Amino acid sequence: MTNKFYCTTAIDYPNGRPHIGHAYEKIVTDSYNRWYKMKGMDTHFLTGTDENGQKLIESAEAAGKDTAAFVSENVEIFKELCVRANIQYDDFIRTTEQRHHVAAKDIWTKLESKGLVYHGHYSGMYCIACESFYTELQAPEGDCPEHHKPLEKKEEEGYFFKLSDYHSWIVDHLKANPDFIVPKSRYKEILSRLEADDLRDLAISRPTQNWGVPVPGNDKFVMYTWFDALINYYSALSKEQREFWPADMHVIGKDILWFHSVIWPCMLKAADLPLPKQVYVHGMILAEDGKKMSKSLGNVVDPFDMLDRFPVDTVRYYLLRNISANSDGKFSVDELIAKHNAELGNDYGNLLMRVIKLARKVMPDTVFTGEGIKQEIEVEDIVKRASEFMDKREHNKAMDTIWELVNHMNQYVNEKAPWKFKEDIENFTPIIYNCLYGMSAATYLLQAFVPQTTETATTYIGADIEGSDLLEFGKAKYTLQHPEALFPKIDK
Ligand code: ME8
Repeated sequence: MTNKFYCTTAIDYPNGRPHIGHAYEKIVTDSYNRWYKMKGMDTHFLTGTDENGQKLIESAEAAGKDTAAFVSENVEIFKELCVRANIQYDDFIRTTEQRHHVAAKDIWTKLESKGLVYHGHYSGMYCIACESFYTELQAPEGDCPEHHKPLEKKEEEGYFFKLSDYHSWIVDHLKANPDFIVPKSRYKEILSRLEADDLRDLAISRPTQNWGVPVPGNDKFVMYTWFDALINYYSALSKEQREFWPADMHVIGKDILWFHSVIWPCMLKAADLPLPKQVYVHGMILAEDGKKMSKSLGNVVDPFDMLDRFPVDTVRYYLLRNISANSDGKFSVDELIAKHNAELGNDYGNLLMRVIKLARKVMPDTVFTGEGIKQEIEVEDIVKRASEFMDKREHNKAMDTIWELVNHMNQYVNEKAPWKFKEDIENFTPIIYNCLYGMSAATYLLQAFVPQTTETATTYIGADIEGSDLLEFGKAKYTLQHPEALFPKIDK
């Protein structure tokens, strides 16, 4: 398959309710998926939940619930978040599903048959929140670098993956594929970590607690949750869907980069499977005070609360345009409201309202055609630059670029002042036609980011064509419909 785009989010731990970071990652991935679909690509978008870890057993115990029931309850909340945030995924994988267990066991068996999985002993410093061992170099003070809590010494007998065999191979792969990890800062971080420390074999099993993917041929053990979790990206694809493999883009946060950019490619290489094309690392959403969100600090933003209070596209727009695609960003409700009012409400919504209302008043029941009308609005360069930013995984800059068109349209309307030509249809019509063209081009480009709004706006503009044809000046005939305010003002 040549024209395909397969993208994934990380699979979330359903040991509690989703937080705004989960929503953010899904919205970002959804926007890329919609963008490439809009460009005519054959897209496939996978999200899901990571259910096999020890953490799930402990959280269920703390809640006084059966693990399977506890996990299923939470998974429904993650799915509900996808509905509320307008996430158009093609598939949602739960790693407790049979299809996942089968594929994980197949890969394990293959590695074992090649001598790349062996039985042995391991002793190391472990963080249960990460479900991960850390070396002295990674945690010199004995604290987890992610959670800043003391690591526990853990001794285990079990199975190991010969990750150490792949050190020079992965370094070579990264050097030959500088876009494998985006942004560059993350790419450099991984390369320097690989240059500083050799890879050690990875413990990939845990004693069974009757939860997890059983190790083939030894039911005293289950697979280490990261080992099985990474396989979800592959296990979710049915035999018919395997032509989507390899993934074109794994979207993740920086805390899980090592697993995706080193361990996962090495696992695939060992299993003779093609490697994903890219790991795109987004920034972290921080609390308004710039601190990491945490329950103990009481600064956690609940995505459902935001989606109850504000239109879904206001939340999407704010997260996508205001948080830089490549670095951490603060979540501020005041800022979200300000952007809703100024950018979505005034710049975009009011532009549409005033042009369409004026045109309908002055020329009711008119179909606006491009015949004989001179082009005064250019969009080619905007489309090109926005596309380049999307390809570089800088969606906020792509949106800034589309906003240049929105701003330009406002300027055009103000300068041309079509309301002065109510009695002069010959001069009125070309201004309106150019306005409708520019607005429909902006609306077309914005559909990946604020899809509910653009669907409504599209009906107001009433073009007789769709898709990229809308970018061709003169092609569309517009039959305007009565518009309602797209983003009514929100008071602080
Ligand atoms: O790590 N802002 O699951 P998870 C933005 N199950 N993104 C954030 C965030 C924040 N404040 N906090 C977390 C796991 N994330 C594993 C993944 S994949 C095979 C297994 C991101 O529920 C985080 O970086 O802890 C990750 O990409 C995703 O949310 C799920 O985190």
